[in-house]
Amino acid sequence: MTLTIAIDGPAAAGKGTLSRRIAEEYGFHHLDTGLTYRATAKALLDAGLPLDDEAVAEKMAREVELAGLDRSVLSAHQIGEAASKIAVMPAVRRALVEAQRGFSRKEPGTVLDGRDIGTVVCPDAAVKLYVTASPEVRAKRRYDEIVAGGGSADYHAIFEDVKKRDERDMGRADSPLRPAADAHLLDTSEMSIEAAFQAAKTLIDAALQTKI
Ligand code: C5P
Repeated sequence: MTLTIAIDGPAAAGKGTLSRRIAEEYGFHHLDTGLTYRATAKALLDAGLPLDDEAVAEKMAREVELAGLDRSVLSAHQIGEAASKIAVMPAVRRALVEAQRGFSRKEPGTVLDGRDIGTVVCPDAAVKLYVTASPEVRAKRRYDEIVAGGGSADYHAIFEDVKKRDERDMGRADSPLRPAADAHLLDTSEMSIEAAFQAAKTLIDAALQTKI
């Protein structure tokens, strides 16, 4: 039987790194569901299509190939913004959630990270984590990442952006970002990724015990 781990939280809270680490540790398949929204948005942008036509966006969403998703080609800020705009559309969400659920059933186990995994995509996940950090810490992490990569960045612009994205993700009517009732909260504001991983591992090991 497949074991699914659901990891949700706002942008730049550390869920990507944590999810990859967990998937590697347990030999599970990993899906960063944000990439499915980004790939849909990029396809629209590339084709010069509008971001506010739900039928067109749904068609693009249905064509997304989970196997070909690559964060390095989807990481642009403009793509993230466009992704959070089309993510408010129920038809787009339905199409992508269907594909994500299919992925979640892979053997021997899966780790899915996003905004609505524990609440909507995999409500029966064996372990649910809600990874968060203060907006200041998340903006600083984004800033450090860009600077470390040789780019230049404006902390205040990034901070405003983080807050705007949170408002959109938490305020939408369909599948807003919020912790599932049975999610374990991990605040990484003052916790290293290693400490977060250890906390997650304890929970997952306990879930695995009950499956045996
Ligand atoms: O996580 P990432 O920044 O790549 O996600 C881009 C956008 O896709 C988010 O801001 C959010 O609006 C949307 N998203 C979502 N549900 C998910 C994953 C991402 O609505 N499960």
